[in-house]
Amino acid sequence: MPANSSRGLSRRSLVRAALAIGGSSALAACQAAERGPDEEPSDSPAYPRGVDDPAELPDRQHAWDDYLVNSVHGTTTQSQHQLLLGLSYEGSIPPTTAERDQVENALRGLERAFQWGSGLDTSGSVNNGLLFMLGYAPRYLDRVDIAVDGLQPPETLLEELDEDPAMAADFDALLLLDSDYASVLLAAEEALFGEKETLNGVPVEDRLTGVFDVTTRRTGVIGKGRPAQELDNDDIPEDAPLSMGFRAGFDNSLPPEDIATRSSGQFAGGTTLVVSRIKTHLDDWYEQSHRQRMKEMYCPAHDYEDVGDIGDRMGDHSGITEENVGDLEELAAEHGIVGHAQKVASARDEDFQPKILRRSEGVATDDVDGSSFNFSSIQTDTRKFLAVRRAMQTDEYDVDVPADRHGIVDYLGTRSRSTFLVPPRAQRALPSNR
Ligand code: HEM
Repeated sequence: MPANSSRGLSRRSLVRAALAIGGSSALAACQAAERGPDEEPSDSPAYPRGVDDPAELPDRQHAWDDYLVNSVHGTTTQSQHQLLLGLSYEGSIPPTTAERDQVENALRGLERAFQWGSGLDTSGSVNNGLLFMLGYAPRYLDRVDIAVDGLQPPETLLEELDEDPAMAADFDALLLLDSDYASVLLAAEEALFGEKETLNGVPVEDRLTGVFDVTTRRTGVIGKGRPAQELDNDDIPEDAPLSMGFRAGFDNSLPPEDIATRSSGQFAGGTTLVVSRIKTHLDDWYEQSHRQRMKEMYCPAHDYEDVGDIGDRMGDHSGITEENVGDLEELAAEHGIVGHAQKVASARDEDFQPKILRRSEGVATDDVDGSSFNFSSIQTDTRKFLAVRRAMQTDEYDVDVPADRHGIVDYLGTRSRSTFLVPPRAQRALPSNR
């Protein structure tokens, strides 16, 4: 391997490790690595600044599509680094005006310091800004007398899926942050919960400390070649964007944001967020041939000629058609396989539009014993997530296909689920009906 590329590799591993560890020394190491050896780490703006006036930002916290990078295929591409902060609420019930102002100002601080994602000019090839959303769990909402139609507690999701309700995360709120630069995420976290006094050169005026505590940190990466670099597993194809070896997220399989936006009620303009932590049993997965994995991941009717090694030949379409879904039983009988994408597409709406928008996915970089996946999706109602997730279950189908050839569900193990209301930006600071 040429010296340059091995340096690049270790630099990326350092960046990933720094984000997983967190804290101010990790931030310094990460900044130095991401800026390169010739640039002195400093508090001068290293990334494009954001805006002072929140009116310049979209009303929705989840308005990300126009601010994500577009791939060569024209499809929105997820940011490479992901940070999920599970929060406990430490403030008053009901929240005081001072606490609300503190939260709002702390979040505005992030928006002043960093551009919202890649900016509106999505011709750029990098999200050198920050995208984030703050969601509230039923645990918090119950205490402030907010009932949200279409927001189920995680225990209900787990019970409905025959999983252990003890895997419900005990978060009161969750802050989900994405960027192509790990140091942007680390710096934002240090400004919100640490002692950092300037953020991208902008003075930090308020923090979340005292109102929220971070109880859980999860980190993840996604993108071409990332999983092979980050995980200690030689089976993962070198170029694959996800640990299971294939591309995900196409124009036809990611619905427009409007589909996931609530149109009525107290939080019209908001959405619901489901966040899961899933173990991925990669050794078993990679014991199978490429052909088998490809058909289990997408659909038995997909051929290597159309998919390629990692889905690279598929352009902006996942190749899943209404016919693939309608012929599921015949294809299962012919191939002895059912596809993951084929199954979940059976839960699309009457216009054959997916009901959930996968928002931020990441191959976990904080799992020390094995491999995991951070899954998150937004939708108007968590029952839609449930319908899609149920479509992955083997017993939903009357086909004679062994579990290990029935999509990917046999290679996954749920470890945690959580659900949140993500209010529109104007209502994001400690909503309350008390
Ligand atoms: C954890 C490992 C998972 C991996 C590696 C994975 C990977 C993929 C891939 C490669 C596709 C096909 C490409 C595409 O259309 O984006 C896909 C589609 C999809 N997956 Fe997954 N997936 C995982 C878990 C899940 C889970 C837990 C859900 C939740 C219910 C889910 C929901 C979906 C949906 C909704 C689609 C699009 C289906 C459509 O076209 O209508 N996936 N996934």
